[in-house]
Amino acid sequence: MLDDAVEACRRMFGDDADVAAAMGGFARLAATAMQHEGLARELRERLPADVTDEQVHYLLSTLLFVGQLTTGPALGFVLARVLAGSEERDVDTTALVDDVLRRDPPAPFTLWRFTAQEVELAGVVLPPRTPVLVDLAGTADDPDAGPGPGLAFGAGPHLCAAVHLARAELAAAVDVLVTDFPDARLAVPAADLRRIDPGGIAGSRLAALPVHGLRPRERSGSS
Ligand code: HEM
Repeated sequence: MLDDAVEACRRMFGDDADVAAAMGGFARLAATAMQHEGLARELRERLPADVTDEQVHYLLSTLLFVGQLTTGPALGFVLARVLAGSEERDVDTTALVDDVLRRDPPAPFTLWRFTAQEVELAGVVLPPRTPVLVDLAGTADDPDAGPGPGLAFGAGPHLCAAVHLARAELAAAVDVLVTDFPDARLAVPAADLRRIDPGGIAGSRLAALPVHGLRPRERSGSS
């Protein structure tokens, strides 16, 4: 069902009808996965019995598309940063990935929290049980923030389940670009890259990433 999965992933960025079709596609893929031997079954078996099949199905269909909304858009910004970079391409990959995630968090409005007690925040007193929605992009320039992706993956018990996976995937893409496509550069000034802001909980993504010099490096040896 790989073609179905690819088709559903592509439609995630279409109009409302496309997104609805994509969601239907992910739901079917998850249902099929649960009927066969494999990772989905294994997940079902490992989860506590009080987690219903319906909940496992929801979890699976979400896992199938979540990277489209997060790692996918982040990849555009990460590659754009490298492609716009200096000639020597001496990149600290981890720091670059983290900095991009801090400045352009793919899920900037996902951090819902409720105050457990009275809290004063920027001169405003919030009573207990007040909903607080943190704007992650607004935390990018926090002078007290140490190294790392900041709050891009959330914090606490609900920290993103894929924090290591997503950073490793983005870093791997940078390594491949730098190593195998040494002449690749942005074909337009970085400031001219057009962003799309779908709204809701989603962050920005690039409309296109025009590149020149995308020739693979010639490898020595016969293989
Ligand atoms: C650059 C990529 C990604 C970013 C920036 C990101 C960001 C986030 C954020 C901000 C949250 C909410 C955390 C909180 O409330 O404290 C979250 C939750 C979550 N993310 Fe990600 N995410 C990314 C990729 C992914 C991918 C690829 C997957 C799955 C393969 C994934 C799975 C999850 C899950 C399961 C949760 C819920 C965790 C829970 O509630 O316990 N994420 N993510």
